[in-house]
Amino acid sequence: MDAILLEKIHLKELDEYHILSLKTFAETFSHANTAEDMQKYMNEDMSQVRLLKELRNRNSVVYFAKVGGKPVGYLKMNYNKAQTESVGINTLEVERIYVLEEFKGCGIGSLMLRFAIEVGVQRKASFVWLGVWEKNEAAINFYKKFKFEQFGQHSFKLGHDTQIDILMKCKV
Ligand SMILES: CC(C)(COP(=O)(O)OP(=O)(O)OC[C@H]1O[C@@H](n2cnc3c(N)ncnc32)[C@H](O)[C@@H]1OP(=O)(O)O)[C@@H](O)C(=O)NCCC(=O)NCCS
Repeated sequence: MDAILLEKIHLKELDEYHILSLKTFAETFSHANTAEDMQKYMNEDMSQVRLLKELRNRNSVVYFAKVGGKPVGYLKMNYNKAQTESVGINTLEVERIYVLEEFKGCGIGSLMLRFAIEVGVQRKASFVWLGVWEKNEAAINFYKKFKFEQFGQHSFKLGHDTQIDILMKCKV
């Protein structure tokens, strides 16, 4: 496999970002949710308008993981008020970390998560945190490998379905 490069997503890459967001989200959650809930979430919470607004937020940053120049994963981090919860002072949220199905297990997720932790170190964050669906065991185990530990939970709306997200954090 070619080298994995992390590159900040620019506004002109919105189409590619949108397509990758929808594809990875569908690959991850379609099997465990109704088509209606998935569609509602992707139409509303992952619309181009929403993604553009997020890209323009100075307290968010999104990176593509590229292999051979092609985006195969992405990482979205939030600082300050862009975080989806207030969990402490000077914290960093990993809101989204996704890899295309065919590229899973190649070290791309690890590279992105290590990068997020390094950003936390550089920003002198007290910790890096994230929310993960309680039923997403693969991701929970992945985070545990990086010494993330549960510190709470919050609810997350997928379409009409209210789900429990486990909150995990890692000291930096
Ligand atoms: C969770 C996720 C980001 C991990 O990224 P990844 O590139 O697959 O992970 P890596 O290749 O870096 O592997 C990290 C570890 O997880 C294991 N792993 C994760 N998914 C795997 C898979 N599909 N096949 C094999 N191993 C896998 C690896 O064994 C590896 O362990 P090791 O370091 O002891 O060998 C990715 O699988 C993914 O996009 N999942 C779906 C989206 C998701 O759930 N995101 C989180 C939402 S909160």
